Amino acid sequence: MTQIMETLLPDKVDTLFINCHVATMADNALSIIKNAALAITGKTISWIGKKKEVPDLLKTKGPKVIDCHNGWILPGFVECHTHLVWAGSRSNEFEMRLNGASYEEISKKGGGISSTVTATRNASKEELFILASKRVDALLKQGITSLEIKSGYGLNLETELKTLDVIQLLDKKFPLHIEATFLGAHALPFEFANNPDGYIDLVTQTMLPEVKAQGIATAVDAFCEPIAFTLTQTKKVFETAKDLGFNIKLHAEQLSNSNGAALASEFNALSCDHLEYLSLSGAKKMAQHNVAAVLLPGAFYFLKETKKPPVDTFRDLKIPMAVSTDLNPGSSPVHSMTLILNMACMLLGLTCEEALLGATINGARALGLELSKGSIEPGKDADLVVWDIDTPEDLCYLAGLTPIDVVMIKGRIHQTT
Ligand code: NIG
Ligand code: FE
Repeated sequence: MTQIMETLLPDKVDTLFINCHVATMADNALSIIKNAALAITGKTISWIGKKKEVPDLLKTKGPKVIDCHNGWILPGFVECHTHLVWAGSRSNEFEMRLNGASYEEISKKGGGISSTVTATRNASKEELFILASKRVDALLKQGITSLEIKSGYGLNLETELKTLDVIQLLDKKFPLHIEATFLGAHALPFEFANNPDGYIDLVTQTMLPEVKAQGIATAVDAFCEPIAFTLTQTKKVFETAKDLGFNIKLHAEQLSNSNGAALASEFNALSCDHLEYLSLSGAKKMAQHNVAAVLLPGAFYFLKETKKPPVDTFRDLKIPMAVSTDLNPGSSPVHSMTLILNMACMLLGLTCEEALLGATINGARALGLELSKGSIEPGKDADLVVWDIDTPEDLCYLAGLTPIDVVMIKGRIHQTT
C-alpha cells in the first residue's frame, strides 16, 4: 500500500470520484490507495487521498460527484503500438497458417504485408477512415485513452501520406490522445523488388522530409529483419529521422536476431518492440540508453512463436516493459487490451502488476508521454477508467472481459454504462 503524499486540497474541483479504490501506477508499482477519493480540476488530476477529506472537497465550488460504488480507478490504457489503418482482410492467410504455412513463407510469396499494401493503396481516404474509425471505437471501449498508430501499409509517398492524414482525422474525431508514427520502412514494395536501397532512398530523401514538413507524425519506426530491411538500411532511415527531429522506434528481433535493438538504442530510441530474439548485449544497450521494451503477446500467439522475449533480463536490467495489442491484419488482429494483458501473463510470464504497468505507465514511456500520461498523480492528465472489478488483477485474470463503468479523458467523461 502506498503512502499518500499530503497534497493541498484544490480550491476548485470539477469532478470528484468517491467510494473508489485506486491503483495509481506511481513508483513502478500498482501503488494502491483503498477507500480513496480523486479530484479533477479542468483537464488535470488535482488531488488524490483518503475519503475522510471528502467533506472539505465537497465544499469547493460545485463539483460533479461520481460514486464509484467501490469500483477501481486505474489510469486509462496507453496503447503504444498499433497498425490500425488498413484495408482488406488477411483471414485467408490465417487459414493458410493453420494449414502449416509460416508468416515468412506467406510473405515471400507476395502475401503478408504486401497484400494489405495493395488493398490500402486501392482504398480511398474516406474508406480507410471508416475502417479505422471502427477499430479506434473498439479500443476506446476497452479503456484505451492514448493510442499510437503507425503508417506502413502504403509504401509509396501518396499512400503513406493518405494513411497519416487518416490518423490526423481520427485524432480530430476521437477524444483519445493519438500519436502518429511513420513506418515507411515496413516492407519492400513490389515496384522496388530488386532495389531495396532505392526504396530506402525514397524513404529518406522524399517521404521523411515531406512527413516532417506536414507535421503529421512524431516518431519513425522500421522493420529490421531478413524479410524486411537490413541493419545498414535501418541505420540510414534513423540517421535522416534523427536529423529531422523525429523520435525513433524499432520492430526489432521479432523473427531473428538482427542486432536492431542495439542500433536503435544508439539512436536513443523511445522503444524497441517484439524482441523475442534479443541478445544480452542488445538488452544491455537498451538499458544503457533507457529504451523501453514493448512486448506484443498477440503477435507471439498468432505466429505460434516459441521463443519468448527475455523477460528476466528486462527485470534484471530494469528495462521498462510495455504491453500492447500490435493491432494489425496479419500477425495480431487482436482488438482487446484485457485479452492482451492475460496473454502477457500466460504466454510471456509477466505478473499481473507488470502487465498492468505495461499497459499504462510503461506504454506511456514507450511513447515519451510519461510526464503527462500513464499514472494517477496530481498534475497529470485526467485520463482514467472506473472498473467494476474486485481487484486490479481481475483485468488480467478475467480474460477478455471489459467491465468499464466510466472512461474519462482529459477531465471529460466519454463513456458510462
Ligand atoms: O508488428 N512486424 C511487422 N509488422 C507487424 C505485422 C504487420 C503485418 O503482418 O501486417 C507486426 O507484427
Ligand atoms: Fe507492429
